[in-house]
Amino acid sequence: MNQPSDICNRLYALARERNGQDVMLDINGVPMLVLQRHESADHVLRTHAAHYRKDMAWFRQALGASRFCEEGEAWRIRRRITHEHFTHFDREHTCALAGQHGAHAVQRLLADSAKGAQTIDDHVLRTMTVSILVENFLGIPFQDTGIDLALISELMEYGSAYSFVPPGRTEAYYAQGLRRLPGLRREILQQMRVLRDGSLPTSPMLADMLRADVDPANDIVLEHELVTFLAAGAESSASTAGWACYLLARYPEVQERLRDQVMQLNPADGWNALTQCTPLEDFISEALRLFPPSPIISRQATQADRIGIHHVDSGQNLLISFIGIGHDAHMRDDPWTLAGTPVVRGPTAGNRMAFSIGPRICGGKLFALVELMGALAAFLRHARFELTCDSPPRFHWKAQLLREGGHPVRVTPLH
Ligand code: HEM
Repeated sequence: MNQPSDICNRLYALARERNGQDVMLDINGVPMLVLQRHESADHVLRTHAAHYRKDMAWFRQALGASRFCEEGEAWRIRRRITHEHFTHFDREHTCALAGQHGAHAVQRLLADSAKGAQTIDDHVLRTMTVSILVENFLGIPFQDTGIDLALISELMEYGSAYSFVPPGRTEAYYAQGLRRLPGLRREILQQMRVLRDGSLPTSPMLADMLRADVDPANDIVLEHELVTFLAAGAESSASTAGWACYLLARYPEVQERLRDQVMQLNPADGWNALTQCTPLEDFISEALRLFPPSPIISRQATQADRIGIHHVDSGQNLLISFIGIGHDAHMRDDPWTLAGTPVVRGPTAGNRMAFSIGPRICGGKLFALVELMGALAAFLRHARFELTCDSPPRFHWKAQLLREGGHPVRVTPLH
């Protein structure tokens, strides 16, 4: 595998060929233990997390140091600053924002389809999720920041591209990208300055981050935290929304059933009512299981250990494959299709595993689930989703699981 973007095709193939097994692979000359069993992931991510460190050197180099990739005290300081904000947010407000931006996004998708588009434009979904995120946590409309989302997306592409390049061989693989990286980073960091120069209102979370930035006791750079926050927060929810549109189109009877449920709710009742809509929650969980937006996370062993039948040396690289874990046939009867009811919940359900587990669990999990419920309810209220091509997906990895060529879905009005 020379192209990192091909990793997910390889992991889906592995989930079929070596279902439910942990496997040692050679990835571009680096021996890598790929974990496909829930018990192994639980061991590394949760019960023995202290013996496995996050291994995101190149991601850090592209996007800067942040809560996402730091370890030890540097991570704990960063977590303290944002964690309260990420977990104690106003669900009703988030749900209303998601409904509003979801309705706006679906109008744009309807207009694209009316003009003949055969695929969903990812940019519309990313604009939707970044708008919900920024308005919710920074208290300002995203368009007021003037930040160019396409540049952040490009930076993510570089960050993920470097993840599988053997040490010392980056030049050989990415001579072109390496030349573009410094300029791209400069441009983005320059755009981010608008969030510190006082020209925009400051939310409580931004105020806490600014205070941390000027505190000489730590080395926090506001722009680095924010760029990763936007990238990690907006891209993964947009990826999930894209896969959800594909699954609605692929399973029209499920789409109709979900729409019936959503139509029975009064939109004015907001989150309080939507939280009762278990079928929609199960559908999102299934989308996250079948197509986990962050399909792999990497760790490095800091001491010798044993995982199942595998001996692990200190320094061993590991990849936890949420693709493999979600498709383990020991955990459900038919792991390859969208489950109707009852959905198998358990430890390998999408909403349990796709956000990771243990101390480094996704900081924005609760927010993402509220946001996705609100946005998908708006999608179902306003439009119908139809497949334009039924070939099985090929995957493109850009730190997120994307579909090569975009999702083949047409969006049409309900009446
Ligand atoms: C469907 C949407 C999302 C998915 C599937 C997802 C998934 C993940 C995963 C798997 C990790 C752990 C990576 C690792 O252990 O190496 C992670 C970390 C993180 N995510 Fe998310 N994420 C989502 C949305 C969000 C949102 C909306 C935010 C912000 C509000 C966010 C903020 C974070 C942060 C801050 C971390 C680092 C946590 C830490 O190490 O302290 N995520 N996410």
